[in-house]
Amino acid sequence: MNVHEIFEDLAGRMVTATMLHSQLCSYFTFLSLEGLAARHKYQYFEESNGYLKLEEYYTKHYNKILLDAIPENPRIIPLDMKSISFYNISDKHELIRRYIMDGMNKWIDWEDQSLVFYSDMYKELININDISAADFLLKYVKDTNKELMDAQFLDKQLRSTNYDLPTLYDSQDKDFKKYSKKLKELFS
Ligand SMILES: [Fe+2]
Repeated sequence: MNVHEIFEDLAGRMVTATMLHSQLCSYFTFLSLEGLAARHKYQYFEESNGYLKLEEYYTKHYNKILLDAIPENPRIIPLDMKSISFYNISDKHELIRRYIMDGMNKWIDWEDQSLVFYSDMYKELININDISAADFLLKYVKDTNKELMDAQFLDKQLRSTNYDLPTLYDSQDKDFKKYSKKLKELFS
């Protein structure tokens, strides 16, 4: 791969990542989980910044524009969720639990694959001896690794209570405040 192809692929993945977080924000808002929704809203803006910085870096260093990045719709929200209302289903407790576990699994799978992808692109940059671009990309590898570890840690905590809904809903106010504060700091 040449440096242009590497950055096009990176840009495409990063746009898809922002779509994933915006969809997970809607997903958890629908489930009335304000804390998890705020977490994904924060990731949406934080990773949008990362994408813009990537484009800026490429344009400044190589005097070219990334035009052919191809994002994919991650389609996080399942089709059956579009047609349900929580006011008219009988066993909503189990359904909500299943949706939360599915949403967490999709988030973890995505970050896991992203870590492999960014690490592979890092190695490609090293292979073509573009060490400064590799050094620039290393921050994305580390950020993705941190986000993956956080998501896996949260999943482990939730699994320890067998995804107990009252425990999870009790934690939402604290998480909502935490990520709303981080979001404000992002723009300050
Ligand atoms: Fe992410």
